[in-house]
Amino acid sequence: MSEPVLLKSELEGLKLVSRGKVRDMYDLGDALLIVTTDRLSAFDVIMANGIPWKGKVLNRISEFWFDFLGVEHHMITCDVGKMPAEVRRHAAVLCDRSMLVKKAKTFPVECVARGYLIGSGWKDYQASGAVCGIALPKGLGQAAKLEESIFTPATKAETGHDENIGYDEVVRTVGPGTAEKLRDLTLHIYTKGSEYAETKGLILADTKFEFGLVDGRITLIDEVLTPDSSRYWPKSGYRVGISPPSFDKQFVRDYLESIKFDKKPPGPVLPDDIVRKTSEKYLEAFKILTGRSLA
Ligand SMILES: Nc1ncnc2c1ncn2[C@@H]1O[C@H](COP(=O)(O)OP(=O)(O)O)[C@@H](O)[C@H]1O
Ligand SMILES: [Mg+2]
Repeated sequence: MSEPVLLKSELEGLKLVSRGKVRDMYDLGDALLIVTTDRLSAFDVIMANGIPWKGKVLNRISEFWFDFLGVEHHMITCDVGKMPAEVRRHAAVLCDRSMLVKKAKTFPVECVARGYLIGSGWKDYQASGAVCGIALPKGLGQAAKLEESIFTPATKAETGHDENIGYDEVVRTVGPGTAEKLRDLTLHIYTKGSEYAETKGLILADTKFEFGLVDGRITLIDEVLTPDSSRYWPKSGYRVGISPPSFDKQFVRDYLESIKFDKKPPGPVLPDDIVRKTSEKYLEAFKILTGRSLA
């Protein structure tokens, strides 16, 4: 597998707005160019090396879902040939890993939906019997399916870890009308995504969406239902009482735990076999979800 890795884009003639953990954003006036790099962050720290195919997989999975979901979204095109001339010059770098989007005024809330009790939801439940202030029945095990999926928002921290917040805090931040719309949309998209994933033998345990305003309309932005923003479990590996294997960065997390990584930057160099296995997982996720092959 000799796919070149892009750790950082440098696009001459375009205005860089920001580099997130994974994406580089360029300003094109009303539009933004999102370049999904091959960076991988784990425990909120960016690793020293990249994962071949990762950026392309994430970008193309988001494209697939924006087309599928039927909700207002920010995607204009992923076809570099249809992008402005100053972007097309960089087609060789940008092919498959870039998306032209409508610029949004973002809501500072991570909109999380959970259908299963895992991750920080499971932690909160063990501590308090509730997640984000939503009380749940007693006696649920790790990875238990919830009777109804729940909206469990989190802060969008500029630095450091996101923190779960109650619905009342979302109301304080964006107002009651918007809060209700964000919650309903989050649960609607989660349900639609889960039903599709199910047909591919995958459980969508939980996921995170971001929304913003474009021309005054609430719009789905950022990445959507990717293995970075979502927890997908193959049905075959699912059972209550364990943390089922998922299509995310589990190899990397396990490796980092094994070397007792202190979870502070700079991130370490990942060994070749971890990089290769992680790359294969991303490609496999793309194939299962879309039925198509990238590599
Ligand atoms: N349409 C949009 N308009 C404005 N900002 C956006 C849009 N889509 C995504 N973003 C922002 O771009 C950034 C994407 O880069 P990413 O690497 O995911 O960053 P982060 O480290 O914050 O997760 C996020 O901060 C996200 O909120
Ligand atoms: Mg992000």
